[in-house]
Amino acid sequence: MRARRACSLLLLVLVGATFLVPSASTDSIGQAASISGNQTLVSAGGVFQLGFFTPPGTADGRSYLGIWYAKIPGPTVVWVANRQNPVVNSSPGVLRLTADGHLVILDRQNVIMWSSAAPTRNVTAAAATAQLRDDGNFVLSADGSGSDQSVAWQSFDYPTDTLLPGMKLGVDTKAGITRNITSWNTPSDPSPGAYTFKLVPGGLPEFFLFRGDTMVYGSGPFNGQMLTGAPALRSSEDFTFEVVSDPGETYYSYSIGVSSLLSRFVVNGTEGQLQRFVWINGGWSNFWYYPTDPCDSYAKCGAFGYCNTDSNPLCSCLPRVPAAVAAAVEPPGRDGRCRQVCLTDCGCRAYAAANVSGGVNGGCVVWAVDLLDMRQFSTAVQDVYIRLAQSEIDALNAAANRRHPSKRVLIAVLVTVCGVLLLLAVGYCCIWRTRSKRRRSEMAAPARSGADDVLPFRVRKDQRLDEEWNSAQKDVDLPLIDLSVILAGTDNFAAHAKIGEGGFGPVYRGKLEDGQEVAVKRLSQRSMQGVVEFKNEVKLIAKLQHRNLVRLLGCCIDEDERILVYEYMHNQSLDTFIFDEGKRRLLRWQKRFEIILGIARGLQYLHEDSRFRIIHRDLKASNVLLDRNMVPKISDFGIARMFGGDQTTAYTAKVIGTYGYMSPEYAMDGVFSMKSDVYSFGVLVLEIITGKRNRGFYEEELDLNLLRYAWMLWKEGRTVDLLDDVMDGSSNYSEVLRCVQVGLLCVEVQPKNRPLMSSVVMMLVSENATVPEPNEPGVNIGGKNTSDTESSLSLTANNVTITAIDAR
Ligand SMILES: *[C@@H]1O[C@H](CO)[C@@H](O)[C@H](O)[C@H]1NC(C)=O
Ligand SMILES: *[C@@H]1O[C@H](CO)[C@@H](O)[C@H](O)[C@H]1NC(C)=O
Ligand SMILES: *[C@@H]1O[C@H](CO)[C@@H](O)[C@H](O)[C@H]1NC(C)=O
Ligand SMILES: *[C@@H]1O[C@H](CO)[C@@H](O)[C@H](O)[C@H]1NC(C)=O
Ligand SMILES: *[C@@H]1O[C@H](CO)[C@@H](O)[C@H](O)[C@H]1NC(C)=O
Repeated sequence: MRARRACSLLLLVLVGATFLVPSASTDSIGQAASISGNQTLVSAGGVFQLGFFTPPGTADGRSYLGIWYAKIPGPTVVWVANRQNPVVNSSPGVLRLTADGHLVILDRQNVIMWSSAAPTRNVTAAAATAQLRDDGNFVLSADGSGSDQSVAWQSFDYPTDTLLPGMKLGVDTKAGITRNITSWNTPSDPSPGAYTFKLVPGGLPEFFLFRGDTMVYGSGPFNGQMLTGAPALRSSEDFTFEVVSDPGETYYSYSIGVSSLLSRFVVNGTEGQLQRFVWINGGWSNFWYYPTDPCDSYAKCGAFGYCNTDSNPLCSCLPRVPAAVAAAVEPPGRDGRCRQVCLTDCGCRAYAAANVSGGVNGGCVVWAVDLLDMRQFSTAVQDVYIRLAQSEIDALNAAANRRHPSKRVLIAVLVTVCGVLLLLAVGYCCIWRTRSKRRRSEMAAPARSGADDVLPFRVRKDQRLDEEWNSAQKDVDLPLIDLSVILAGTDNFAAHAKIGEGGFGPVYRGKLEDGQEVAVKRLSQRSMQGVVEFKNEVKLIAKLQHRNLVRLLGCCIDEDERILVYEYMHNQSLDTFIFDEGKRRLLRWQKRFEIILGIARGLQYLHEDSRFRIIHRDLKASNVLLDRNMVPKISDFGIARMFGGDQTTAYTAKVIGTYGYMSPEYAMDGVFSMKSDVYSFGVLVLEIITGKRNRGFYEEELDLNLLRYAWMLWKEGRTVDLLDDVMDGSSNYSEVLRCVQVGLLCVEVQPKNRPLMSSVVMMLVSENATVPEPNEPGVNIGGKNTSDTESSLSLTANNVTITAIDAR
């Protein structure tokens, strides 16, 4: 539907006017100017540029009017005016502002290819200007003043595929504008493609990604604080989002704290994803995107089912906040009103608070439809009250006593959920769904570990259930994966699939048959153990499950091959963030603190809470991986056992570790204990705070390494000087001090003076905990003449030899 109509009226206006070309770097055009060919407008601060462009790969030289980042080669186009109506005649198009306040694109024959929507206020022909601003908005000002009151049209009201900071996504009923973002058809064709992200009105505000007419992903309803389907989307000092819902308009919008940071949110048709990009170090870093895992697919588990990526099968019954567009929102009322509303309505299936801060008395949302699109998260909190028949609860209780133990636990948990959260009367809790079991599926995760993990639906369960679960887990079969599957998924261990080289062998990125992304660790031949021992070790590691440990999904044993298959971590390892000039900036204090705490919890679990005490022996920044929500996960735990432990093999005395993280007693004497892990943790804490490697850091003037330097500043009361200088003044200094103090305690010379991980966690989380005064740190071998690369050490009978460069 090309708007190919000659406009005589317009021509009248245009005829006779002398068109001036905008001077070299202007940011606006008025009646008397036009843009054509390679002329462009550049915003005052030089951030954005507007002009005609031809997407790469277009054969017939079609051109479009667009806005892109002025300083980024490419160009990265964020807005396209005539996405459906390119100028084709291989002659440049022209952009003009007409006297009646329309921006128009004309082709060589002066045919209007595109025209902006009618101006929303009367324009003063002589004064009106269209200005490209530094936020990327192209604004038509009715009187040229540029004031908010004079805006007659703006590109921000007509987004294409990109949402820039400050743009709104949603519905403005007053102005009659609906703003959605729709992917490009192909990278060389900006016309609307298959994917659209938009607000679906009704119930609570909730945004959906559509492919054609099919909902493929839902953000989860906004509960007053967050979009419940995207708990990782949190406002912080550098990123703030808001969801506004009032009678006049409902929208999502976001802003960036550091104004110099370029950030864009795109619906990407090639990937079928929503992506957030940040410009760092000469490249776009895509460090957040949805959907990523199968649970993000809309209504994946059907009515009353909920999806949990940590369990297998993925689908279980109840509890995420279900899609709320089909629910009714009740205004705030008296105590118990929501419950009352639900009980008196035969169709009511469930209710929840509409705004979590207000609780159920601050208005509620009531579902009289099947509960769809539920998902369990480990971070968000929202209670949903589900209506159940008393007889159902009784039946579930009875069934729980009869069934297979592993199912019993789930059902028992469910009953607890229902029992505690719940009501009575008619209705039902859930349709028990089981899916065909896959081999690797058998390592289902326990409902959740870690008492202080906050659950989206507080699943209240007691210790007894955990134990039952553990005993059910004991009998899991070893998830074996065929070598052929791994070869197919990694292109036969192709070089391009390789993502790292750890101390134990190379790591590849791959896919399993069902498309699940995995990291494949191919243990080096020298580590070979007998099949039985290897299986035993893998079983042991597979049983270690914690939010802050990378999950082992399975293994493969084939002749000489020993392969471990882990879940894939999208944001790679911590060292790629904290030691990277650009990406460091993404980790502000709050995030760093969460990462420190997460690592501490994972290590505590390995040391103290798992059934088998595991000493990691090689904790370092490159062994801490980050998932897409930047939750830290310790990797490579337990493998050291396979290389030595109690087995009588050639490698009995071999100990793995990395310079810079090894405690003195371990590096010198090969003595390792939980306390040597604690030492490595202490080093890691100081590295996270400073953004500098212990190994490689060297304070020229003072002749100090990182630990000594930290110690000196601590003694002089200048601890805050340690803080990575990319973090601005918004850090919580008392938290910083506590972390440094804990870090210094962990690196004490005497192992007995170092705290256990459980105390570390306590000292970190509690503002009132007493943290002992640290003593001088134990200093590791490897001084000022050592290089910056990390080297794995192999200690054989106390002889230190460097055996491998570890560059993961
Ligand atoms: C603009 O295009 C003309 C030819 O079409 C070319 O001669 C000129 O160098 C171009 N200017 C810039 C700044 O690219
Ligand atoms: C434009 O001006 C006309 C009369 O001059 C007036 O009737 C109309 O309401 C104005 N429109 C807007 C959008 O201000
Ligand atoms: C997106 O919004 C535009 C109006 O701005 C509308 O014409 C279009 O149909 C919308 N697309 C979808 C898929 O809803
Ligand atoms: C879509 O995603 C791919 C892969 O992440 C990326 O290369 C491409 O630039 C993205 N497209 C847009 C429009 O951002
Ligand atoms: C949620 O409730 C809190 C306190 O009751 C209130 O301050 C806030 O504005 C509410 N949020 C929304 C989106 O209604």
